[in-house]
Amino acid sequence: IKTIAVLTSGGDAPGMNAAIRGVVRAAIAEGLNVFGIYEGYYGLYHNNIKPLTRFSVSDIINRGGTFLGSARFPEFKNPEVRAKCAENLRAHGIDALVVIGGDGSYMGAKLLTEEHGFPCIGIPGTIDNDVAGTDYTIGYQTALETAVVAIDRLRDTCSSHQRIAIVEIMGRHCGDLTLAAAMAGGCEYIVVPEMPFNREELIQEIEASIAKGKRHAIIAITELMTDVNELAKEIEARVHHETRATVLGHIQRGGAPCAFDRNLASRMGVYAVDLLLAGKAGYCVGIQNEHLVHHDIIDAINNMRRPFKSDWLDVSKRLF
Ligand code: F6P
Repeated sequence: IKTIAVLTSGGDAPGMNAAIRGVVRAAIAEGLNVFGIYEGYYGLYHNNIKPLTRFSVSDIINRGGTFLGSARFPEFKNPEVRAKCAENLRAHGIDALVVIGGDGSYMGAKLLTEEHGFPCIGIPGTIDNDVAGTDYTIGYQTALETAVVAIDRLRDTCSSHQRIAIVEIMGRHCGDLTLAAAMAGGCEYIVVPEMPFNREELIQEIEASIAKGKRHAIIAITELMTDVNELAKEIEARVHHETRATVLGHIQRGGAPCAFDRNLASRMGVYAVDLLLAGKAGYCVGIQNEHLVHHDIIDAINNMRRPFKSDWLDVSKRLF
């Protein structure tokens, strides 16, 4: 391998820049040429590919987002689009590709490896912490801090007004961000996609705690589970207590990466280059029990599942 490329794909996450920097600097130190692909697979298809030097990644370790840009590109499902992408890589003399992103981005890497024999390595970058084969994804810890700060602020106002607050947290189909933010924020009720959502039970629990004298409460809920504004109206009508919903939204995706994410990203970036130099392709990087690991990307997508942290939910429930 003489020349590699790196791209970021899917939803951006704080720490992606640090991961790009890790890949670029480690590769250059080993004498490799490095290209940056701008705007993910979309940019790959449109040939938005430029050489990177060690100075291209100066002053980015502390910056949120991704300087390469990211995109969702559903057209990549089309085999002709993928063939053009592989052709663009080869036209630049690129021998291997590092993809930083979530599950969807891994799928792209898997297809390039499977169909075009193109060596790819995946690095998990998403705030959702929903990628198999790793305890943590890059961006998750930063988003968690952001969500906790927001919950603390909601606590101030809902306690002043004796209201019920509903806070909707990102995570797509994974409740990790909600679980961890809710525990750190001392939320009274937690609704995550891994557990069945029983509205009636939630309302009865709130009614019971109000009857016991509770004046305010925070409900943390993962996005996509229900319309939180409707839920607020329903709770208010049933328990006769003012209720407000707040959707944290894309605020959770921005901001300077925390030290944990910068270090995770730097380590994973260097590890990805080491894998390529060792002739390994078609793998995704992870961290498990503090150690960097790699798994077959196809296995990670098709067979590996992230365990639900039910013990976290139990702890939070015991602390209400
Ligand atoms: O995957 C990261 C994420 O922020 C999810 O939590 C969320 O469901 C989704 O991306 C939002 O995507 P978009 O920014 O494309 O609206």
